[in-house]
Amino acid sequence: MKSVLSLPVIAWLALAWSGVAIAAGPNDVLPEAPGKTLVVKACTSCHQAPQIVTKRHTSDEWDELLAKMVARGAALTEAEQDQVFDYLVAQFGPEPRAAVR
Ligand code: HEC
Repeated sequence: MKSVLSLPVIAWLALAWSGVAIAAGPNDVLPEAPGKTLVVKACTSCHQAPQIVTKRHTSDEWDELLAKMVARGAALTEAEQDQVFDYLVAQFGPEPRAAVR
């Protein structure tokens, strides 16, 4: 009986823990990589992550898009912008490292 009980408890703990960082939801489409937390924080207040990631962009396009979003009000310091830029180019560039499904 003990093992039957412990599995759901572990699953609940895992869920509760992941919920501390990012609430489960549409923003889960973002791959885990450095910079993700910043993207969730700065980019998902106006639109959800799927809107960001449905199209791939070259690094030039991301550069432009990021500047546009910062002008709109994305709250990122210069250093944070660099991290977000690296994340977006790596994950959602023309040759993505991570598959998004
Ligand atoms: C202040 C609100 C706001 C914030 C913050 C914001 N955006 Fe946007 N974003 C918009 C609006 C409004 C649109 C749709 C209008 C447009 O495309 O010009 C949009 C559209 C987009 C698009 C689609 C544009 C296209 O041409 O395909 C992408 C990609 C995007 N945002 C990425 C980001 C990223 C990355 C961040 C975080 C750095 C971010 N946004 C933060 C308001 C915001």
